[in-house]
Amino acid sequence: MNYTSIKDIDSLSKWVKSAIKIKSKPLKNKKLGKNKTLGMLFFNPSLRTRLSTQKAALNLGMNVMVMNFTNEGWTLEFEDGAIMNQGASEHIKEAAEVVSQYCDIIAIRAFAGLVDKEKDNAETVMAGFLKYATVPIVNMEGATGHPLQSLADAITMEEFKTEHRPKVVLSWAPHPKALPQAVATSFVEMMQLQDADFVITHPKGYELNPEITKDSKIEYDQNKAFENADFIYTKNWSSYSDYGKITNSDPNWTVTADKMKLTNNAKFMHCLPVRRNVIVTDEVIDSENSIVIEQANNRTYAAQLVLQKILMTLAPKEANKTKKSKKNK
Ligand code: CP
Repeated sequence: MNYTSIKDIDSLSKWVKSAIKIKSKPLKNKKLGKNKTLGMLFFNPSLRTRLSTQKAALNLGMNVMVMNFTNEGWTLEFEDGAIMNQGASEHIKEAAEVVSQYCDIIAIRAFAGLVDKEKDNAETVMAGFLKYATVPIVNMEGATGHPLQSLADAITMEEFKTEHRPKVVLSWAPHPKALPQAVATSFVEMMQLQDADFVITHPKGYELNPEITKDSKIEYDQNKAFENADFIYTKNWSSYSDYGKITNSDPNWTVTADKMKLTNNAKFMHCLPVRRNVIVTDEVIDSENSIVIEQANNRTYAAQLVLQKILMTLAPKEANKTKKSKKNK
């Protein structure tokens, strides 16, 4: 079993219930991961993903190894048949198989480059590990999705919702740097599995991948979108059509207390890290309606559920291995 996309979840409501159960007794399965190793490979920086996934693994009794490819690993080549006489020192074929010798599960963070849409949509790094690793793969944010984040978001909304069918708004907000669409895309995919009144709001030109948003409502008037909302989920992303470009930085899209007044006393969510007074004002993020810290805390239980599910698929193999070796004696 791999966890590389929200589509790997068979029943979101069951997964959310299981994660909430894990949260109530996080050390219950402390023996499940004994003698198993999680390898965490980072091609980009992280705070929450690194620490929450590591904590999740430790809660399950796993060993954890972390490697930052940005400054520690060899530069990898991903193209089959490449003549490697340029910058890359090692091919993904060897690298993925070698890491599989040391680890029982490999988790990978590899963001979009935001230069070549086709290359990003192909998820070159994740796809390379999926092809050549011999152990399960977990996506810690790839070029097109961040499914551990959106699972944590679903857990958080379940904990804080007061309406059976809440109105949930995904709102674009300005940012000085071009950011990937991964978090927003996975959030849309996750919301499409929920019973909710879901609305995406952003300036024209910031449409996400239309293949993904085709069944979701888009409202270009942010104030209109905010009316009666129960959750405001804010995130910046760069243009998908004018790929990787910042085509609008209108500060009127910043989430302010006045905008939150249009809502049904909505909870404010953001995956973090967040640029204060650019994406959201201090007044909103510091208000009692802000649940960003609870959301970040749920990253641990989302990761723990995913690792637990994968470990359970590994366990029978180990049991069989033991049975076989006993038989051979
Ligand atoms: N939300 C999130 O993935 O945070 P980090 O980039 O700090 O891991």
